[in-house]
Amino acid sequence: MAPVMFGVSRREVLVTGAVSAALSSFPAEAHPAGGEAGPPAMPVSFKVNGTSHALTLDTRTTLLDALREHLHLTGTKKGCDHGQCGACTVIVNGERINACLSLAVQHEGDDVTTVEGLGTPERLHPMQAAFVKHDGYQCGYCTPGQICSAVSVLQEIRRGVPSHVQSDITAAPQPTNIEMRERMSGNICRCGAYSNIAEAMAEVAGERA
Ligand code: FES
Ligand code: FES
Repeated sequence: MAPVMFGVSRREVLVTGAVSAALSSFPAEAHPAGGEAGPPAMPVSFKVNGTSHALTLDTRTTLLDALREHLHLTGTKKGCDHGQCGACTVIVNGERINACLSLAVQHEGDDVTTVEGLGTPERLHPMQAAFVKHDGYQCGYCTPGQICSAVSVLQEIRRGVPSHVQSDITAAPQPTNIEMRERMSGNICRCGAYSNIAEAMAEVAGERA
C-alpha cells in the first residue's frame, strides 16, 4: 500500500503537483482557474540618472526590461539575459550589477545609473573619453556595460574591495593592469580591445597600465 502523508496518499500529492505545474504554464488571461486576472503587478519608484520614476510593473519584470522597455533607456543592452556577458551592467547605489538578474520591484528607492547617465556626446565621462583615446570601444552591445563596469571598478578599488588576484588580501588594492583585467572579467567579450580597455582605465585611475 502507498505511504500516506497527513491523510493524503503519495499518489494524490503527485497528481496535485502535476496539475499545479500544468495550470501555471497557462498565460494569466487564459488561466482556467484565474478568470480574467492579469499578471501580478506592483508599484515601484526609483531614480534613474537623477530622474525619479514611479512605475507599476509585472513583478517578473527585470530591471533591464524596466529600463529598456518601460523607460526607453536602450543604452543598457540585453546580450545573454542570463548573467553571463555583462552587457546589461548598470550601477545601483554605487555598485555595478547585472540588470538582467535583478527584478525591478527589488529596487524601491534605489539610485540607478546607466550609460546614458555617465556622460553625453558633448560632455563625455572621463572613462568614455579614455575609451575613445585608447581605442577601447567594441561593439554597441558590449561597450555600454564595459564602460559602466570600468567606472565602477575604479570605485571598488578606491573603496578597498579585494579581488582574487591580490597576493596580500589585507593590503589596499591598487589599480594595476592585472586588477583591471580581473575585475573586468564579468564583461566577457572584450577580446578586440582587451589591453586598450585596461589602458583607458589606468589613465582614468591616474596609473600607468
Ligand atoms: Fe545580463 Fe548578459 S544580458 S549578463
Ligand atoms: Fe561585442 Fe564581441 S560581441 S565586442
